[in-house]
Amino acid sequence: MPPYFIGLMSGTSIDAIDAALISFNAGKLQLHHTYRHAFPSVVRSELLTISQESREFTPLHRIAFLDIQLAKLYSEVVLKLLRQANLSPSKITAIGCHGQTIVHSPDSNPPYTWQLGDPNTLAELTGITTVADFRRRDLAAGGQGAPLAPACHQALFQTPTENRIVLNIGGIANITVLPAETQQPVVGFDTGVGNALLDAWCLKHQQQICDYEGKWAKSGTVQTQLLNDLIKDSYFSRTAPKSTGRDYFNINWLNSYLGLQNYRLEDVQATLVALTVESIAAAARPYHPQRLIVCGGGVHNPLLMQGLAQSLPNCSVESSIAFGIHPDWIEAICFAWLARQTLTRQTGNLPSVTGARSPVILGGIYYGR
Ligand SMILES: Nc1ncnc2c1ncn2[C@@H]1O[C@H](COP(=O)(O)OP(=O)(O)O)[C@@H](O)[C@H]1O
Ligand SMILES: [Mg+2]
Repeated sequence: MPPYFIGLMSGTSIDAIDAALISFNAGKLQLHHTYRHAFPSVVRSELLTISQESREFTPLHRIAFLDIQLAKLYSEVVLKLLRQANLSPSKITAIGCHGQTIVHSPDSNPPYTWQLGDPNTLAELTGITTVADFRRRDLAAGGQGAPLAPACHQALFQTPTENRIVLNIGGIANITVLPAETQQPVVGFDTGVGNALLDAWCLKHQQQICDYEGKWAKSGTVQTQLLNDLIKDSYFSRTAPKSTGRDYFNINWLNSYLGLQNYRLEDVQATLVALTVESIAAAARPYHPQRLIVCGGGVHNPLLMQGLAQSLPNCSVESSIAFGIHPDWIEAICFAWLARQTLTRQTGNLPSVTGARSPVILGGIYYGR
């Protein structure tokens, strides 16, 4: 029987917990089952609060409580996935759990990042060995702690026949540059905003957790001056390695650019779509990709996909589904892949991506029964 792994991902969008059950058959990765559990709205709003500046008013014991509450949610997700797959926990080699980022500050001195979802609880409630806390080892080794998906993106998508970029549009967007010259180093970084600001503006003014299919943005007009101001933000022109999160790109960041201007709400939404597209395209262009393989929730927003295709006319922009993997599960798959790396004492970070001094074995291991 091939070894099974489960990847658990809940990203900066704070929309849902994504779970993927994979196996490695003669080293080849296969996706078997998936399960998505939307965050209960109370948990989501609490996570949103503590993931931004207003966290200063969150009592410490709430964070400690959330750490356990999240792990309980994760364990329910794992057990539901296993029921669906008709597998017992004893068949699973390990869970790779990303956890929920509540703070990511890789450029402070000293740098820090923190993901909640207690792995002790998860290992105990599922009985399955759990690998977690992946980012802090890379950070300790002098890296950004992010992005960590590139090594798995490389294993899944690199080919000597063309220059590819894998683009993940989550709350934050990140790219992995996979040169056709496979001996060249893989580059990767957070390009900046993905869906996070689109979601935040939509929630504030439409009371909807996201702008489904980009319909609201489509009713607006891109404000060129505002777009030019936003894109001048220093994050976009910084050289890699770089990573970011809600600590930086949040509604306060947007408000600081809106000033006292009275833009139509839908025009701001349209401009934010253009910002996501332009910042990604500008990051990708210097690498002359022939193909952009897109994953993450942003793939479901046709405005983002059409915008990227227009901004990168010499590159074919496609959902990862065209390469046999559904775009919603790639990040969860990456953390299952990383758990296997850790358990087999293999490194998981790419120093050419994170800026770490060396490749390191990521994460802590919490043994199951
Ligand atoms: N049908 C859709 N239309 C527009 N946006 C969508 C759609 N489906 C998903 N999204 C966007 O994708 C986000 C979730 O993407 P995801 O890859 O899970 O991000 P993260 O890794 O940050 O959790 C949602 O918050 C939303 O902004
Ligand atoms: Mg998500």
